[in-house]
Amino acid sequence: MKKGELLYEGKAKKMYATDDPDFLIQEFKDDATAFNGKKKGTIKNKGIVNNKISAFIFEFLESYHIPTHFEKMLSDREMLVKKLNIIPVEVVMRNIATGSLVKRYGLEEGKELEYPVLEFYLKNDALDDPMINEHHAVAFGLATPGEMETISRYGTKINAILKSFFIRRKVRLVDFKLEFGRFKDRIVLGDEISPDTCRFWDLDTGEKLDKDRFRQDLGEIEKAYQEILGRVLHTGE
Ligand code: ADP
Ligand code: TMP
Ligand code: ASP
Repeated sequence: MKKGELLYEGKAKKMYATDDPDFLIQEFKDDATAFNGKKKGTIKNKGIVNNKISAFIFEFLESYHIPTHFEKMLSDREMLVKKLNIIPVEVVMRNIATGSLVKRYGLEEGKELEYPVLEFYLKNDALDDPMINEHHAVAFGLATPGEMETISRYGTKINAILKSFFIRRKVRLVDFKLEFGRFKDRIVLGDEISPDTCRFWDLDTGEKLDKDRFRQDLGEIEKAYQEILGRVLHTGE
């Protein structure tokens, strides 16, 4: 597949056209941002690590019949993906109270939730990604009620699958963000699943192994990302 023109450069990835209009090349950068772009930095080899982690997880989810945009790995930093019409709604799944959930609702930090929480945020950096619900998404013309139902079902299923995937690797899947889009009128999981978009805590020590190390200036960021890659690739069993 030939790499064509750069269609979009985002905060963490570049999207290139290919010679087939149905496919894009997604290239992962080392650039890191937090707080919707207000904090900027780089994390050495993050692009390589996130490409490998995302590829592995997308293939794993496909084996559970979750449709994803992943086609194949092209290089250390590049994967071939289906070109989606992205729905500008960030889907967040939470198992443990932390981050904005604790700020917004005054919950106890680190407490396991009685039941997973599904949230929607409007994907709009200028507005700081405000929280919305499925009615807003439909009323704003972003998705149909049926599409929101499918997205919620996939979100819940992905959480159940990945929670046990990570427990086997001695990692607690605290929370994570997903993006979905349309491919030939079907809802497909897009973007990435990586330490940039998930919170991972070591099961035994509680050590943070994700982008919170960058957000909170905790140091040893590269090491944490490598640790997650190692555990994703090998269960240790
Ligand atoms: P951002 O736009 O938030 O800065 P990135 O740097 O991760 O984010 O850029 C990747 C962009 O590509 C995102 O806007 C994401 O919604 C979009 N995207 C992800 N997967 C696909 C896909 N398969 N087809 C089209 N767009 C995609
Ligand atoms: P939050 O607690 O800050 O709302 O984050 C919830 C989860 O979503 C966490 O795993 C980080 C992820 N996330 C993103 O991937 N992108 C974002 O823009 C935000 C705000 C969170
Ligand atoms: N993804 C957002 C950013 O890159 C917010 C975050 O991850 O904290 O700025």
